[in-house]
Amino acid sequence: MNPGMKFVFDEPGLPQTGALVLLVAQNLGLGPAGRDLDAALGGMLERAMKAARFSGKAEETLCLLAPAGLPDACAADRIVLLGLGRTEALEARTAAQTGGAVVAALETSGAEQATVLMETFDGMALSAAEAAAEMAFGARLRSYRFDRYRTQEKPDKQPTLTRIAWHVAYPATARNRFSHLDAVADGVFLTRDLVSEPANVLTPAVFADRCRSLESRGLAVTVLDEAALAAMGAGALMGVAQGSVNPPRLVILTYKGDPEADDPRPLAFVGKGVTFDSGGISIKPASGMEDMKWDMAGAGAVVGLMAALAGRKARINAVGLVGLVENMPSGAAQRPGDVVTSLSGQTIEVINTDAEGRLVLADALTHVQNACSPHTVIDVATLTGAVVVALGSEHAGLFANDDSLAAQLVAAGQRTGERLWRLPLDEAYDKEIRSDIADMKNVAANRNAGSIIGAQFLQRFIKDGVRWAHIDIAGTTWSKKDTALTPKGSTAFGVRLLERFVADSWEAS
Ligand code: BES
Ligand code: MN
Ligand code: ZN
Repeated sequence: MNPGMKFVFDEPGLPQTGALVLLVAQNLGLGPAGRDLDAALGGMLERAMKAARFSGKAEETLCLLAPAGLPDACAADRIVLLGLGRTEALEARTAAQTGGAVVAALETSGAEQATVLMETFDGMALSAAEAAAEMAFGARLRSYRFDRYRTQEKPDKQPTLTRIAWHVAYPATARNRFSHLDAVADGVFLTRDLVSEPANVLTPAVFADRCRSLESRGLAVTVLDEAALAAMGAGALMGVAQGSVNPPRLVILTYKGDPEADDPRPLAFVGKGVTFDSGGISIKPASGMEDMKWDMAGAGAVVGLMAALAGRKARINAVGLVGLVENMPSGAAQRPGDVVTSLSGQTIEVINTDAEGRLVLADALTHVQNACSPHTVIDVATLTGAVVVALGSEHAGLFANDDSLAAQLVAAGQRTGERLWRLPLDEAYDKEIRSDIADMKNVAANRNAGSIIGAQFLQRFIKDGVRWAHIDIAGTTWSKKDTALTPKGSTAFGVRLLERFVADSWEAS
């Protein structure tokens, strides 16, 4: 939907026009080409850095307009000094963030083209080509816009930047690395498109249709409609859906990237896809309720992840399963006190209709284990407000029944910056969701340990011997402000994290 910026890689050399971006390391200052240019400019760059107290911290930028005295073949209309941070601290994640800063500085600046002179600095752990690819990845992630419903934009808010080039030694290496990252960014953009969409547009049926369109990208897509779900006995999911005029769907995306694998069992990802969460009869307060259009962000992340894996032809067999419902109050809605029979056969007393995510996931988790026999299941959900209280927006909550799985996920979080903090699972919490008339109730009597209670509830739907992790993204999936890699709005949290997890913990072995 975004016409999109172009990201290209070329041999070293000064550009003819546009913005010229020079890297500045916090510990080393300008690189060799930057110093040559500064000499030609009579020391203007060093003087500007001093005057602005520019130190080269990662993501710091300083823009010098209409520079005079540039070498003959170069008519750049501005020079942007870009902080790289300390060279020894430069890794994929920080390089990407630096790339994001280029877009942040120039997107609506009037500049149409930018050229980054990608130099090598002493002590850099990445090659210049790798760093350029990661910077381009970050730049692309930061360039996302959701403009579908904007018919009037003030001219000075309209983006001008359409192309960024990295002038770097071994541009073919950078291009090759970027083509993988570009597929991941495609997945991130798909997730952001889904999550940003309002709930009147993105109903469960429309979400399922968008999943179907991924067949062209090498995924097999199966959609179960209301009749199929009822026939199957998915009573927990159906109970949530029954108050809405928009019927539920369950979508299974299958990707076979490793047909010769010794273990035929797939890795499974399951997403909470509540296209709107009003709370149902246990209705939410009006203030902020509009945020609940993104209560399908777990499902959005699973779909974007599957698109990314297929797009970069990951060597893995994976399934993605999303439970899609709308949680609404109406004369047909589920009431507090209702008892539903889940697909697993376990009965649930629904005390609070606003604890609907766990009901949807219960049946989705059961179905993925019945239909796909995965060795490992990872669910992603905007499950609890309590996780926002506990961890804010810097970490998502992680729960796992397996220590090595938890460690792998935490490591992927560190590498991508989509960080996780592990919280406990413990039988001692189970007594809080004992019901007087059914196998369990869906909430505890008070708000204590709300995220853990949610995870304990989900664990009841995991079969013995299945490795399982639950990631609560309620605090991390939507950003109220711009960050290095994300304009404000949907972050697509989980796509880069789980893509990294697949690459490091499955494909590498
Ligand atoms: N979708 C919400 C959780 C949520 C809250 C996500 C805020 C993002 C921001 C979930 O369905 C919900 O309503 N959870 C309840 C559970 C409670 C009733 C046990 C909550 O967190 O209040
Ligand atoms: Mn809810
Ligand atoms: Zn919800």
